[in-house]
Amino acid sequence: QTIHLADYTPPAYWVEDVHLTFRLAPTATRVLSRIRFVPNSDAPGRFFLHGEGLTLISAKINGAPVSPAFVEDGLTCAVPDGPFTWEAEVEINPQANTALEGLYRSGGMYCTQCEAEGFRKITYYPDRPDVMAPFTVRVEGSDPVLLSNGNPVAQGDGWAEWHDPWRKPAYLFALVAGDLVAHRDSFTTRSGKDVDLAIWVRKGDLHKCAFGMDALKRSMDWDERVYGREYDLDVFNIVAVDDFNAGAMENKGLNVFNASAVLASPDTATDANFERIESIIAHEYFHNWTGNRITCRDWFQLCLKEGLTVFRDQQFSADERSAPVKRIDDVLALRARQFREDNGPLAHPVRPESFVEINNFYTATVYEKGAELIGMLKRLVGDENYARALDLYFDRHDGEACTIEDWIAVFEETTGRDLSQFKTWYSQAGTPRLDMTDSFADGTYTLTFRQHTPATPGQPDKAPMVIPIAVGLLSPNGSECVPTTLLEMTKAEQSFTFEGLEEKPVPSILRGFSAPVIVTRKSDNAERAFLLAHDTDPFNRWEAGRALAKDALVRMVKEGAAPDAAFIDALGQVLADDTLDPAFRALVLHLPGQDDLAQTLFDAGVTPDPIAIYAACDSMADAIATTLESQLASLFDAMQVPGTYSPDAEAAGKRALANAALSLLSRRDNGARAQVQFDGADNMTQQLAGLGALIKQGKGDEALQAFYEQWHDDRLVLDKWFGLQCSLAKPDEAANVAMTLTAHPDFEWKNPNRFRSVLGALASNAAGFHHPSGAGYTVMADWLIKLDPVNPQTTARMITVFETWRRYDADRQALIAAELDRIANTPDLSRDTAEMVSRIRGA
Ligand code: ARG
Ligand code: ZN
Repeated sequence: QTIHLADYTPPAYWVEDVHLTFRLAPTATRVLSRIRFVPNSDAPGRFFLHGEGLTLISAKINGAPVSPAFVEDGLTCAVPDGPFTWEAEVEINPQANTALEGLYRSGGMYCTQCEAEGFRKITYYPDRPDVMAPFTVRVEGSDPVLLSNGNPVAQGDGWAEWHDPWRKPAYLFALVAGDLVAHRDSFTTRSGKDVDLAIWVRKGDLHKCAFGMDALKRSMDWDERVYGREYDLDVFNIVAVDDFNAGAMENKGLNVFNASAVLASPDTATDANFERIESIIAHEYFHNWTGNRITCRDWFQLCLKEGLTVFRDQQFSADERSAPVKRIDDVLALRARQFREDNGPLAHPVRPESFVEINNFYTATVYEKGAELIGMLKRLVGDENYARALDLYFDRHDGEACTIEDWIAVFEETTGRDLSQFKTWYSQAGTPRLDMTDSFADGTYTLTFRQHTPATPGQPDKAPMVIPIAVGLLSPNGSECVPTTLLEMTKAEQSFTFEGLEEKPVPSILRGFSAPVIVTRKSDNAERAFLLAHDTDPFNRWEAGRALAKDALVRMVKEGAAPDAAFIDALGQVLADDTLDPAFRALVLHLPGQDDLAQTLFDAGVTPDPIAIYAACDSMADAIATTLESQLASLFDAMQVPGTYSPDAEAAGKRALANAALSLLSRRDNGARAQVQFDGADNMTQQLAGLGALIKQGKGDEALQAFYEQWHDDRLVLDKWFGLQCSLAKPDEAANVAMTLTAHPDFEWKNPNRFRSVLGALASNAAGFHHPSGAGYTVMADWLIKLDPVNPQTTARMITVFETWRRYDADRQALIAAELDRIANTPDLSRDTAEMVSRIRGA
């Protein structure tokens, strides 16, 4: 059953307030509700409550027993005219809830995940985001810690009461109960309100909370300074849970986190883990305003909260760390996940117009492309107008459930600009291709751009978009003759001129990646090398190096060319430039990903062979290691960080560069340096980099054994142990490694992190997953079929590993099609997976 944006109708009843009582028991929890309903005189209609998998014990209206009728996904009932009170008691079984949606058990505790439509698995309720209400919750249970949203009201032996005064939709409801301990701190808002902060964990994890707490306080401070947003309750609680489908959830006053997204200590978490934790803590905290105080009218508007909140967390990380490095990382992720999605059968607009299962639309397009749209809007209107528009948004819509139209309107009113063409970015799927030609005559330089967006499922014809193109011009001597200028392209083809130039400049286009497009212009390697050496825009400097690397690798795959000496030379010059941030140099040193190369080849009309791509990357790495060996060796030494480990950006950048060098050098020293580093490491970043380099050299067996013995009691570290073996296995061994690991006694496949640590890592190993034997596809499909009845959300997410199947040769396509059919024909397939497999399979 497909839901359409165009069919939206307001609710027939509003909720004035909600009282819930939970009598917790693992297999038979009772949920008592008392809800005050008020008819919506603007949209009279049937009284309907969502409910799924609930056992109704009793129901009353205004105190008198009623017998509701069960319909579709809920119930309906005859109700009096005017306001009334609904009371119900239901029974649910948290212990049996393996889907991890609604109220469930994880590691002996109770926890909830209600976004998007999980609250209906807890009690009967209008489970839609435009119905907002204050909640009062009483939790009764034998656990020492009993938490819910809002402020604590009272507690006694075996019970606790919470009140959340801020009206909220049911998807922001949360409850946690368990034998937990708290890492506590406090924060005073700028208007002087004291807030008690706590991160709740199981006893053994208390030493892993300090960094997350620090990130939370920095986030609170940042949102006050940059967006003028203060926190609004007496307490802010975060809970770490082991079993969680997503990264984390912004429930009002009670954020619930996947343990991997909050817990970190130097010996168990890598620099990359610390950085990710910082950004997720910020993200969930920032939702308090962009998501909670102002929420979404319906789930088609998901990008209203997610795109904006991702944009805000990206701004935060850019401020806390290196802005250019953060931008490059974000674009790498956007290209790897969102461009991939946009180029395949799952392409959809940032604001989709229909869905079968909303959980399938928590995508890179809604989140990451959604964030890019905010960035473009800010670029187009300027920083001051952006700030004024946001103030107006918070002022006008506080306490409301809004739409993209509301969002666009505050920008139109603030600036007087007509943004109707800009809105196309929200409705049109696909990544625009941007071509450019240039000419020079009599001191005038002309840039001519052409845009074109390829067809996507259901959208054969595309309209031209507004594309903000940041451009700078460099003189042939290397100095900048025109600083960054924003061009606004609105037509299919458009020219821009620059006058008074002495000679033909070198263009630096799409600086800072000013729009989420693919530049198709063919520039030559001399120009790329020039920009890599001279561009003042750090993003485009990196981009030039990336273009050189891609060109060299594509020629190796397509023509059997040798590794390009000029590219390696240019790389050497960047590495030698000590004025450049080590983190930036590490990014330049990382070769383009193999999946990215496959898409590049496909776009160039070549059917990609993942094995040939793997071989080209391997021999390029050999050539770099051989040519630059002595330089890499001194860099490796120079970038060692002495003293106590700290996850700060500067130290992490040095380690990133040292470890990129280590990975290459291991090809020359047979893993000698890696072994030393592994043996002597006092932090996980160094230990894991040593282990990875050893595995790649085929010398990892002993280290893997030692690592297992050291860490088998730490679930998050054990995930790394599983993951590394799959992601670094040789192409012809990867499927076997994955199969063997799924038979390991520690492979707790019902835990999403553990499941992903093997199957997700297998898919990330492009040559191994796409090995011509098809064994990778089969092991993947076997496990998706096994997981689907247990956890539809994680299955439906994982099946996107097949979304690129149309890129490949007929043999691989036939193998994948057979696996997709096998999944599709599985009896009782979940709605989640059924929708995904049919979209991936296509017409
Ligand atoms: N709102 C959460 C966040 O972005 C993610 C919730 C994921 N839910 C889902 N059904 N996939 O922080
Ligand atoms: Zn979010």
